[in-house]
Amino acid sequence: MISFTPKSKHDQEATIVLLTSKQNDKRLKKDIEKGEIFPFLEGKKYLLFVGLGNVDKLTLTDLRIQIRKALMSFFLKKVKSVEVIPHTKDERAVKAIIEGALIGTYTWDKYKSKDKDDKVVKDKHVTIVVEPKKEYEQTVAVCEGVKLTRDLINDNADLITSDYLEKTIKGLIKGQKKVSLEILNEKELKAKGLNLHLAVNQGSPKEPKLIIVKYTGGKKDEGYTAIVGKGMTFDTGGLNLKPTNHIETMRIDMSGAGAVCGILKNVFKLGIKKNLLFVLGIAENAIGSLAYKPGDVIIGYAGKSVEIGNTDAEGRLVLADAFSYVVKNYKPIKMVDIATLTGACVVALGFDYSGLFSNNDELAEELLACAQETDDRAWRLPIYPEIKEYIKSPIADLKNTSTIRGGGACTAAEFLHQFVGDTAWAHLDIAGSAFVEGHGRFYYGHGATGAGVRLLTHYLLNF
Ligand code: BES
Ligand code: ZN
Ligand code: ZN
Repeated sequence: MISFTPKSKHDQEATIVLLTSKQNDKRLKKDIEKGEIFPFLEGKKYLLFVGLGNVDKLTLTDLRIQIRKALMSFFLKKVKSVEVIPHTKDERAVKAIIEGALIGTYTWDKYKSKDKDDKVVKDKHVTIVVEPKKEYEQTVAVCEGVKLTRDLINDNADLITSDYLEKTIKGLIKGQKKVSLEILNEKELKAKGLNLHLAVNQGSPKEPKLIIVKYTGGKKDEGYTAIVGKGMTFDTGGLNLKPTNHIETMRIDMSGAGAVCGILKNVFKLGIKKNLLFVLGIAENAIGSLAYKPGDVIIGYAGKSVEIGNTDAEGRLVLADAFSYVVKNYKPIKMVDIATLTGACVVALGFDYSGLFSNNDELAEELLACAQETDDRAWRLPIYPEIKEYIKSPIADLKNTSTIRGGGACTAAEFLHQFVGDTAWAHLDIAGSAFVEGHGRFYYGHGATGAGVRLLTHYLLNF
């Protein structure tokens, strides 16, 4: 929980004082270095000085990291209420502090047994000593959307099924006006010919679903922007089975759909008045005797035939059908998809940046600006006219794998591009950025990061 107060209150169990190098506090009789935490005990109350170093060199990412470190420090283990005194009134810095406190202290421990002796207070009440502003409440709201996304991604694949995601979406739109919902289950997907989507789910006992939320928050004559998420509730790779060390985290393959849930929550909470389509392409890429086969040729909703070069390149198939269905039936003017699409994107960019692809420079620039502003980072990678040569098939219109070795994130993006028609479109490949393994990086702990939620919420709010 987080709140704001213009004046410091005295009923707090602890106080965190953020200090840059030149800001001396008379209680502190020494210089405090960047990253240093200096605790005092004032009676029963903890006072934590946190060093931020030279203000000119202090990035907002640093600030988020330091807040996380302070709030999760040993000294505050048993503290329920803590006040944070920022080093500045700067709005962007205060927002970073809020994010450090909310995004930074998120931990996934649902399945860890609670040690009786370990009385760590996790959900501390954090009060930031700053004049309250609408913008700060907005940041808090966005962080709650990020949390929903992370919870959905982190939990077991057999819990977060297509049914579960449907319930989540229904819960989010309940009581909202100007909303309509279309759900295509297996039967409807068959009747309408979304055969690529169906093929991917063929080996699974669970229901494939295409969920479309239409929200007319803007003016009647304004075009719709579609946000489309890849929702592979588990990706075994199918008959091209993923090996050990690659399969273990594949419950995260619905991170795109998870992000769509978080963004949807944010749109309502922030009262964003736009015409939007929220689309979740949900399937499970399971292995078994019913699973679709390498070498198969499948004709999807757009009427294009696709040769299956590899059953593990399944995300693009589900998205291809989702795109063609949405483009034909809802005619959005803009479409942004978000997907854990390729391991190649991780090779290209690592874990800190999502790959951004677009057929529209203006849209790409706007999204990059949002990525910069929110620290939900993205880096543009290319698609270009000649690249489509690499996804040609001798026996079908397209192939779901590439004929060349490198650039797998780009050829996957080009495959998607084949299904957007004239729509201004951007694709975020979050295969690397969606999840942190090990002990964390920056201000994220182990697990899902909520990649794309802050970026796209900011986009919908500002563009
Ligand atoms: N879901 C994976 C991509 C992925 C990799 C997500 C690592 C998160 C972390 C995707 O469906 C996949 O398996 N892609 C293949 C495509 C290949 C077979 C052409 C890949 O990237 O290896
Ligand atoms: Zn795959
Ligand atoms: Zn996948």
